[in-house]
Amino acid sequence: MSNIKGPRGTQDILPGEVEKWQYVESVLSDICHRYHYKEVRTPVFEHTELFQRGVGDSTDIVQKEMYTFEDRGGRSITLRPEGTASVVRSFVQHKVYGSPNQPTKLFYFGPMFRYERPQQGRMRQFVQFGIEALGSDDPAVDAEVIALAMNAYQELGLTSLKLVLNSLGDLESRKNHREALIAHFKPHKDELCEDCQMRLETNPMRVLDCKKDREHPAMETAPSILDYLNKESREYFETVKSVLDKMGISYVIDPNLVRGLDYYNHTAFEIMSEAEGFGAITTLSGGGRYNGLVEEVGGPETAGIGFALSIERLLMALDAEGIELPIDEQLDCYVVTVGQEAKKEAAAIVYQLRQAGIQVDKDYADKKMKAQFKAADRLRAKYVLVLGEDELANGQINVRNMDTGNQQTIQLEEIVEHMKKEFKED
Ligand code: HAM
Repeated sequence: MSNIKGPRGTQDILPGEVEKWQYVESVLSDICHRYHYKEVRTPVFEHTELFQRGVGDSTDIVQKEMYTFEDRGGRSITLRPEGTASVVRSFVQHKVYGSPNQPTKLFYFGPMFRYERPQQGRMRQFVQFGIEALGSDDPAVDAEVIALAMNAYQELGLTSLKLVLNSLGDLESRKNHREALIAHFKPHKDELCEDCQMRLETNPMRVLDCKKDREHPAMETAPSILDYLNKESREYFETVKSVLDKMGISYVIDPNLVRGLDYYNHTAFEIMSEAEGFGAITTLSGGGRYNGLVEEVGGPETAGIGFALSIERLLMALDAEGIELPIDEQLDCYVVTVGQEAKKEAAAIVYQLRQAGIQVDKDYADKKMKAQFKAADRLRAKYVLVLGEDELANGQINVRNMDTGNQQTIQLEEIVEHMKKEFKED
């Protein structure tokens, strides 16, 4: 039988690599705690309609990239391509908007699924970390979300970052801009790619984001959303920028930053890696404001803003900048035994030490003493505990500190207390 491999665009994260994920996830959770965002966990699959309405029928995600199937009950189900729609659905379903603590500030980790052409930094299953702040249209919340994102990258040691900012304005601003875009691109319609010809009808702003038509001369002269912002939208954007200025967070404005999901308005942003060798895809994360999405999903009028990053691209950026994460790969203790009796006794000692909170392992392959020492070495054990026939006869155990080379003989009944003390001093 031929070997079965994991599906294209998925990956296994094995020990050795998984510690990086755990470390990064712990730093991100810790930052959320400081910014007072609480974790939410939503299902990996939802009714397809949620994403059609939430993410938007005309987006690439909904049109081309969703893992959609009929379940055994005949319902159309989709593996979530992103987290925002699910978080908003759960916010509405559980009437969280009724709580006196608003805005509701949430974060999440979890696998997302998009049927994309896999390449470096683009997976079919990838893990997003995201935050959503629901229930406030204070521009300071926009700045808080951006600050959290930048803070996260910087705390992990990244320096080659670029924050790109745009405003998509409110409904009125976008409507005026839409008309201007249609008038601008209509004469060139036949020269644009097939997707853009359709986008021109459904969502002309997305033409600005097209990879194929990037070089078309009409792109450069396309009307900028920033010239179509009405007074309110302009003031809103100015306030977001001035709060970022006060925080000392620098950014560049890109009026062509449109984002690939339909729910955005006002603030939109992406964070890019500028590290050499990062690869073709430079976007590390993206987000923005989505006032109106809660109503779309059936809830009351509620403002919202958030962002998401994928851990895959974050780890790529750390790699590209040569950042070593402070991961402790050493084993605390390894117990070496000689003889059958010692083996049995060691099983009990290992159990007691583990109960006392100490990380311990031993040989289970009947290895000779020398091979056991080698294993302890390979696992970079901080302490090696040796239980030979002599030690056992005397009710003792030999404790070696592998860093200092110090050796001590300890009474068996005192070993747990002794090791607890050793680690307290460490
Ligand atoms: P998005 O821009 O579609 O936005 O995705 C956010 C981030 O997820 C991207 O910047 C990238 O780091 C990562 N990502 C997306 N697709 C892939 C992929 N195929 N492989 C690896 N990483 C990927 C959203 O998903 C919005 N829900 C963000 C948001 C939250 N907006 C408001 N709140």
